[in-house]
Amino acid sequence: MFGGRLPELTTDLAALEDSARARLSPEALGYIVASAGSGATARANRAAFDRRRIVPRILRGGARRDLSCTVLGTAMPAPVAVAPMGVQTLAHPEGELASVRAAAALGVPYIHSTQAAHSFEQIAEAGGGAPRWYQLYWPTDRELCLSFLRRAKASGFSALLLTLDTPLLGWRPADLDRGFLPFLRGQGIANYLSDPVFLAGLDKPLEEDPGAAALHSARLFSNPGLRWEELPFLREHWDGPIVLKGICAVEDAELAAEHGMDGIVVSNHGGRQVDGAVAALDALPEIAAAVGERLTVLFDSGVRTGADTAKALALGARAVLIGRPVLYGLALAGQRGVEHVLRCLLAELDLTLVLSGYTSHRQLTARSVREV
Ligand code: FNR
Repeated sequence: MFGGRLPELTTDLAALEDSARARLSPEALGYIVASAGSGATARANRAAFDRRRIVPRILRGGARRDLSCTVLGTAMPAPVAVAPMGVQTLAHPEGELASVRAAAALGVPYIHSTQAAHSFEQIAEAGGGAPRWYQLYWPTDRELCLSFLRRAKASGFSALLLTLDTPLLGWRPADLDRGFLPFLRGQGIANYLSDPVFLAGLDKPLEEDPGAAALHSARLFSNPGLRWEELPFLREHWDGPIVLKGICAVEDAELAAEHGMDGIVVSNHGGRQVDGAVAALDALPEIAAAVGERLTVLFDSGVRTGADTAKALALGARAVLIGRPVLYGLALAGQRGVEHVLRCLLAELDLTLVLSGYTSHRQLTARSVREV
């Protein structure tokens, strides 16, 4: 500001979506921005943030702040991580490679999706020694599941997030109307196409029939039959923290604790799965009160700004996952765009805390926000 240089992208993170809309192809726009059904859940996610207001405090000494923390055994500069999101090449040709490099530049953990357009090994190479976690969609084939876990471990992913709100893909009119599913076109299946177990299961070599390989991955991708009783299998084969993603009910949070999980992500997948579901932020306080002492409670769905992040932390989240804004930054300026989004969000979080009378996010409590 003092040098007279202007930022390349807007610092108004809530406005990024509008800028990104102009950049994305209709297919990418439909896949990334749109939600399930009528969009009611995504709207509810935002409304839940708007309904809660921070109550600033004064004269509490804020010259020095410390947002650093350790979550799931990972040291982080602030309680923020990049949410797992598949097929990032829809937003930018470099896709996940640009995102993981940006996250690494800031020391923010990057979460690798099973449905990514780059493999575990490519992400590890691009991310170097920076912290990273792996998000599993449990395939219908256990051997493939084990192979994914082995490769994730070997590639330096330290925590496992098992996403459970997607036993099948939600009803997404924007994609249905275009007949667009990236995975069937061979996009977002890099982990499969580079996997020895997957390749061994193909009738014909990949090069001879890539279409059949894409179809095969789609058959393996979701696992609607999965039950609580199968979780010990994961524990047996993963020696790091295990977190269940997609929890909206207190009962499921309790079950996660009873089944010996390390954490949960309170999330409704950004409104992409069940139309008319409870806003994730509305579900958070009750869940955090029930299991916050026993489990690491993470949160996503609707976070757009540093102030939103502060609200979620006040309502019981230990850390917050940033979803679509990362893809908007990616679409607008690749790695630089993602760095911009993360840097703005961390700066705004820091500023929100000090302006509200806190020197650390740990001082936030349910009394830091009021519902209006
Ligand atoms: C996602 N999300 C997601 N989650 C997951 O566990 N595995 C995945 O592969 C994906 N893929 C994905 C793609 C795209 C384009 C989006 C927008 C989201 C969900 C993601 O992790 C997170 O829960 C939501 O993005 C949070 O909602 P907001 O804040 O983005 O609205």
